[in-house]
Amino acid sequence: MTSDHPAPVTVIGLGSMGRALAGAFLDAGRPTTVWNRSEGKGDDLVARGAVLAATAEEAVRASGLTVVCVVDYDASQAILEPLADALAGRVLVNLTSDSPERARTAAAWAGERGIAYLDGAVMVPTQLVGGPEALILYAGERPVFEKYQSVLEELAGRSAYLGGDHGLAAVYDLSMLDLFYASMSGLVHAFALAREDKVAATALAPYLNSITAILPDIAAGMAAAIDAGNYDGEQANLSMMTASVDHLLHMSRDRGLDTGQLEAIKAVADRAVAEGHGADDWVSTIEVLKLKG
Ligand SMILES: NC(=O)c1ccc[n+]([C@@H]2O[C@H](COP(=O)([O-])OP(=O)(O)OC[C@H]3O[C@@H](n4cnc5c(N)ncnc54)[C@H](OP(=O)(O)O)[C@@H]3O)[C@@H](O)[C@H]2O)c1
Repeated sequence: MTSDHPAPVTVIGLGSMGRALAGAFLDAGRPTTVWNRSEGKGDDLVARGAVLAATAEEAVRASGLTVVCVVDYDASQAILEPLADALAGRVLVNLTSDSPERARTAAAWAGERGIAYLDGAVMVPTQLVGGPEALILYAGERPVFEKYQSVLEELAGRSAYLGGDHGLAAVYDLSMLDLFYASMSGLVHAFALAREDKVAATALAPYLNSITAILPDIAAGMAAAIDAGNYDGEQANLSMMTASVDHLLHMSRDRGLDTGQLEAIKAVADRAVAEGHGADDWVSTIEVLKLKG
């Protein structure tokens, strides 16, 4: 897919992410047609060489490959459904984030209409799009991904193919965001706890790095333990760690801070201890996360 005359592409959706994606194609020297529901969002891209299509159909017909990136699948389907005839025989890459179910439904819709479909998830902020560190996840037909891989790598140096189930990019996306939002909330709570005792956030921040630095090893160890079903807690057991959550709860309550996230953590750990995992590693709590009944 690389030559002196790169094949044209189309980007539909010119929000923050759509503009970054179109910009990355332009930076790579690729002819790029763009379209957005509301007017006035593609002017900067046009100044850089993009063609602003008058209609979504005109945009799709301009290229063999269309990338769509809008707020959610209600929005992407609202745009795409009237375009089924125009998209037939072409490749559609949907980089809109949503649930695995919505991705699979969209893939079935595309498959029934002869549209080659990849579902993807952008895993980095807009500033990194187009760079070597940018990560975009893809799922769907492997031959389609392989044929367009070099084009898609213009959007992200790390373009990972996950498998044929079109829901997989959303599964990875939401699992990664699960960690992200829990971590963001934990970080803010840590700063709040320290602030109550007059510790500046900038004083605490360098010490927090000693926690974040051990997370990669912890994640790899947890993953191996989960896949092996071996929750050996010889180094640090769940009962001991649950007591440490109690200290956090006491201090937070004393200071009048919200304890919602800590209480949720404690409730899961207590349930695992009650089910006999007290001597196991913290990772054993995975066995009590699925609620019964
Ligand atoms: N921004 C990020 O850092 C980031 C990072 C990773 C993933 N993402 C994902 O990328 C996707 C786009 O995010 P964004 O940051 O570009 O969002 P955004 O700046 O809010 O832009 C939203 C886009 O969706 C369009 N849209 C909304 N409702 C629509 C509808 N009913 N019909 C047609 N178009 C509609 C908007 O068109 P109008 O201009 O006409 O409203 C606009 O193009 C999301 O799924 C997001 O989760 C974003």
